[in-house]
Amino acid sequence: MSLYGRHLLCSQDWSKQELTTVLQLAVQMKQKPYDPAWTSLLKNKFFLMLFYNPSLRTHVSFEIAATQLGGHAQYRTQHMEWIKTSKQMGESISDAAKVISRYVNGIGIRITLDTISHYGAGHKTLLEYAKAVTVPLISMADDRFHPCQGLADIMGWAEGLSSEKSQPDFNNLKGKKLLLTWAKSALARPWSSVQSHLLLASRFGMNITLARPQGYDLDPEVYGWTEQNCKENGTYFEIIDNPDDGYEGAHVVYVRNWVTAEAYQEGQFQRQTEVERALQYGEWTVTAERMARTHNALFANPMPLDRGNEATDEVANSTRSVIFDVVENRLHVQKAVMALTMSDNLINEVKELRLPT
Ligand code: CP
Repeated sequence: MSLYGRHLLCSQDWSKQELTTVLQLAVQMKQKPYDPAWTSLLKNKFFLMLFYNPSLRTHVSFEIAATQLGGHAQYRTQHMEWIKTSKQMGESISDAAKVISRYVNGIGIRITLDTISHYGAGHKTLLEYAKAVTVPLISMADDRFHPCQGLADIMGWAEGLSSEKSQPDFNNLKGKKLLLTWAKSALARPWSSVQSHLLLASRFGMNITLARPQGYDLDPEVYGWTEQNCKENGTYFEIIDNPDDGYEGAHVVYVRNWVTAEAYQEGQFQRQTEVERALQYGEWTVTAERMARTHNALFANPMPLDRGNEATDEVANSTRSVIFDVVENRLHVQKAVMALTMSDNLINEVKELRLPT
């Protein structure tokens, strides 16, 4: 099996074996970050990051990932280019993609929220780039998916549910209950992280309870894929509208705010309206009292966390919180993805590491 040259836009495009290979390599990279087996894999290689929207974790972790693999990353914002989007005229994506491909060995793109005109436009932009580039394209989050975030969480949950944190067993996720709950927030978050978590948790055999108020449903296509993944694993996917009812028996509680399907009006993202609407749902916060009803669940959130709204400090700072482990895992997962997709040298290393073939 080789992932060399592949794009990563949505986890659903990759087989379970391919996703597991990424995670297993990430575990080994976490154990030995400076092992010579990988410190030169991207020697003389270059990763270009196009950020149409702000980022802390993704920007820093991708840049360090490239450096730790012996390569280099450069960061650009939309203000540095004149590339067409659903909201602005400019150079065609096809031309820009071909130009960039002549210089670099891999590309990462983030485009979501205010820089797009309607739901789906960010992912469509990534698909347009993917068609025209001749090097791997890795999503750094669009409006539909955030696959690297999803993989980092799966790794953190498996670590937290394994007896030996440094030797996570991904089979431990099978049959475990994930409560994925909406929460009020002043941050107006997109659907990308939560949808990637639905897809990956169902792929790795978890039972899923999605809790959200009426009016906060996600993409029906993602619900359909999640149901299909659960069917293949013999697990369940249920949707409830009560902030209290999903906690019993949960092994992982994942909280995330997300906007409604009406978040885009006349081509503009309605941040203020969404925030005002979300903050009316006072009871939708993860509290210690609610966590006490779980199966000693891990607490997860992809960050940034809106403390006091999405979860209390007591929950976020508890010993069961894996939020910072997951943040760290972004680096290891992205190193694994970049190494597997951008380095032809890894093929021999993969054999030595006895990863799935
Ligand atoms: N979780 C995440 O992608 O964080 P940033 O927006 O800071 O990159």
